[in-house]
Amino acid sequence: MKIAVLPGDGIGTEIVAEAVRVLQALELPIEMESALVGGAAYEAHGHPLPESTLKLAMDADAVLFGAVGDWKYDKLDRPLRPEQAILGLRKHLGLFANFRPAICYPELVGASSLKPELIAGLDILIIRELTGDIYFGQPRGRRTATDGHFPGAEEAFDTMRYSKPEIERIAHVAFQAARKRNKKVTSVDKANVLETFQFWKDVVTEVHAQYPDVELEHMYVDNAAMQLVRAPKKFDVVVTGNMFGDILSDEASMLTGSIGMLPSASLNTKNQGLYEPSHGSAPDIAGKNLANPLATILSAAMMLRFTFNQTEAADRIERAVSSVLASGLRTTDIWSEGTTKVSTRGMGDAVVAAITKTI
Ligand code: NAI
Ligand code: MG
Repeated sequence: MKIAVLPGDGIGTEIVAEAVRVLQALELPIEMESALVGGAAYEAHGHPLPESTLKLAMDADAVLFGAVGDWKYDKLDRPLRPEQAILGLRKHLGLFANFRPAICYPELVGASSLKPELIAGLDILIIRELTGDIYFGQPRGRRTATDGHFPGAEEAFDTMRYSKPEIERIAHVAFQAARKRNKKVTSVDKANVLETFQFWKDVVTEVHAQYPDVELEHMYVDNAAMQLVRAPKKFDVVVTGNMFGDILSDEASMLTGSIGMLPSASLNTKNQGLYEPSHGSAPDIAGKNLANPLATILSAAMMLRFTFNQTEAADRIERAVSSVLASGLRTTDIWSEGTTKVSTRGMGDAVVAAITKTI
């Protein structure tokens, strides 16, 4: 099991260090090698994704990624900005399926902005398509309008498009994921207005014929946004396009309390994956030993489950995280009256100790 470790900037180095210690505590045959990425790589090599870092990632089975970015790089030309590193990795690794689970731990029910009864026991999985949609569709640009409401005016345009194979492969991923869970897929579209998403709906329905054991429901995106805060537990697996997925997965992540708890995985067709917390580099708390490392630790669990098929080891990490939360330890972002505040390192220590106990 070869893992490229790319901590990046800000809290990235602090939280990835803890996830690495957790992986080491499992005593599996794992080979880990680190490289600079993002602003850290720009400082050292003049580029956010140096050739050597990209090669390390391409040659590995999986990438453990921290976060990149800092306000101080905002004035750089776009290709040199830290965020280009993550876009470059997605592109070169062909990562097309983004998994973002939203799980509410019983101990953190009070941290959500929703009523406890709405989110207690919440366990949903948003699957976002990553390569297509209006993000990459050509043509795009600016021009002078020749028609429309204001001919002769300056205008901008993007193109929403999806090919059949792109929709098919993400639909298969969703149905297969649902098979291992509660056997329900909600496909989110805007088929009533957009041809791209009528096509999406038709293709998902066609693929569904191969999964008669899984229930398929179609939902318009505006209704899905509403249902996510009204009755989120009605969902199991949600599959959608790049843009709706970006928005809905951020919405879903907030149901659970802190962004410091939320892992993610991005996979390609060979099950190679990039695993990272859903949050960014948090420059406001970087270097202070305050960041919550659990999102990154849980991302490492997803890596073991998805890329390496090490279900037992993944379960052990997740059980360790639950037991640490049950024992009342909290980083600042999830702290509440009556619980015990710990640092980034302290939280890592506790998870490692819980894992070691279960060997
Ligand atoms: P952010 O996620 O870094 O921070 C948002 C807020 O959440 C901050 O108050 C931060 O302190 C807090 N937070 C985030 N992670 C935390 C953790 N593990 N424990 C405790 N608190 C945590 O988003 P923001 O502030 O919008 O962006 C900061 C930088 O990160 C920017 O340069 C942005 O471009 C970059 N970014 C990078 C991403 C990536 O590497 N994939 C994703 C999102 C943002
Ligand atoms: Mg987003």
